[in-house]
Amino acid sequence: MNILGISAFYHDSAAALVRDGEIIAAAQEERFTRKKHDYRFPTHAVRYCLQAGRIDASDLDHVAFYDKPLLKFERLIETYIAHAPRGFKLFLMGMPLWLRQKLHLPSEMDKALDHKYKGRYVFTEHHEAHAASAFFPSPFDEAAILTLDGVGEWATASLGRGQGNKIELDREMHFPHSLGLLYSAFTYFTGFRVNSGEYKLMGLAPYGDPIYRELILDKLIDLKEDGSFRMDMSYFAYCHKAVMTGPAFEALFGGPPRKPESQLTRREIDIAASIQSVTEEIMLRSARHVHARTGCRKLVLAGGVALNCVGNGRILRESPFDDIWIQPAAGDAGGALGAALFVWYQLLDNPRRPAGGDMQRGSLLGPSFDADHTTQFLDSVHARYRRFDRESDLIETVADLIASEHVVGHMAGRMEFGPRALGNRSIIGDARSPKMQSVMNLKIKFRESFRPFAPSVLREDVAEYFQMRPNEDSPYMLLVAGVQNDKRKSIDGRSRGLDKLKQIRSVVPAITHVDFSARIQTVDEQRHGRYYRIIKRFKEKTGCPVIINTSFNIRGEPIVCTPEDAYRCFMATNMDALVIDDFLLLKKEQPEAKEHEIDAYLARFQLD
Ligand SMILES: [Fe+2]
Repeated sequence: MNILGISAFYHDSAAALVRDGEIIAAAQEERFTRKKHDYRFPTHAVRYCLQAGRIDASDLDHVAFYDKPLLKFERLIETYIAHAPRGFKLFLMGMPLWLRQKLHLPSEMDKALDHKYKGRYVFTEHHEAHAASAFFPSPFDEAAILTLDGVGEWATASLGRGQGNKIELDREMHFPHSLGLLYSAFTYFTGFRVNSGEYKLMGLAPYGDPIYRELILDKLIDLKEDGSFRMDMSYFAYCHKAVMTGPAFEALFGGPPRKPESQLTRREIDIAASIQSVTEEIMLRSARHVHARTGCRKLVLAGGVALNCVGNGRILRESPFDDIWIQPAAGDAGGALGAALFVWYQLLDNPRRPAGGDMQRGSLLGPSFDADHTTQFLDSVHARYRRFDRESDLIETVADLIASEHVVGHMAGRMEFGPRALGNRSIIGDARSPKMQSVMNLKIKFRESFRPFAPSVLREDVAEYFQMRPNEDSPYMLLVAGVQNDKRKSIDGRSRGLDKLKQIRSVVPAITHVDFSARIQTVDEQRHGRYYRIIKRFKEKTGCPVIINTSFNIRGEPIVCTPEDAYRCFMATNMDALVIDDFLLLKKEQPEAKEHEIDAYLARFQLD
């Protein structure tokens, strides 16, 4: 039985194919259209999923959509009426898309499926889809469920329990009160892009002091012991304007929002620290509450806020739960997967028997490319490459390149589903190198120098380098933990703000954030195959089981999907080497890229 799940029309459109309960394929539309966070109907992702399943749309038994558009429309209308006549402009801005597409979803979907699908469409609730994406693929037979995001139809957070093949959500928080939107309001106010710059705010937080924390708790929200809260909407504008915050908010934080791309000041840095601290508090209280309500020992999480890996790390360490599992595509893309799994388990009542690991297959659910395709392409652009017959030779070469401070673009096998690159579409480098953070930020990614990098570490060595349990799993890079004390270096405690950036804080400085934390991906042979073997060889050569893993893209660009994308990104940046499956390209051997081609490439991607 083939079930297709779709999410679309908000941000991060995606499609997923589930066959007899097994996840066959899943991908975000942005990777194909090369438009970051593409919200349009995921025509390309749908096509890919059908191809990956070797089926036609006529072979689909069910098609599920990740929210209920009519309920969402109702929220829009009610919000408008509540604020009228304010908000008329915002209302008018949103209407065309609703009238053209969102209210006619079945015919939109018919079109995308070439009118070959003859069944009905299932519309799950938005938070049901998130909850399904968190629980059903998890390794747990029973778990508490917590979903936190910006907003779905009305719900902005939900909690409940999953057991066997069923989920049950029994509490919700409703729009406009929303942790996701609260965080986004601060993302906007500090000059970053909403629904995309939230990571930057989280990355900036450790540079600051949370001096506005009490102000936020005092004025902006009324936070309850159970983690629920109400926002004082006189400070926020998102109900009636296309901006997040209003004049009262500005008065509270000493002036207008920071202009995007302008200098970051002490204020933004301390605001970042403050809202991050409040967010962690809300996440922790919510986790404790759902634990008390359900008595479950395991927790699963999804929704955009579950990408706040600092908060996740605190839940794991400080809440009463023994274990947590987070959907890697925790944002709206994951709703496509959740909707499909919801149909298979919840609606069709198929049995679910978790056996050991999770069902997410390393989240390596996207397209891969065969050697003929790659050869043809590389020849067509006159690239100079070497093709390796033996994997061990390739691994040897790559490990040597990294150990000698070269930056390697690594594309292999299937693309990741979810916002994190997990080794198959990654740029990798030596975590021991003091210069790597600035080299990668400024010369490869063309992004802000404060952005931290994340480590990939052999799972068997995770506890030696990081404050985690021996062999503890974090394969999806969704947990933050401290670098072990004996790997830290003493630093001058007087540095403030972005000056902290210059300090060498550990034996793996490139991945150690200013508060000695790191966003960890554990790598194991079963899930990660060759990527694991590369790091293992690197360790044999250097004694260090940790490398830098950052997504294979430049600032503002969706992560690369095809060999073509990877090659273009490689040629336009200062990357030293490129691996595409069994092929290796060295930059110094390539015909030089022309300046205007590089400029044109960089100009294609909007600043994020
Ligand atoms: Fe969502």
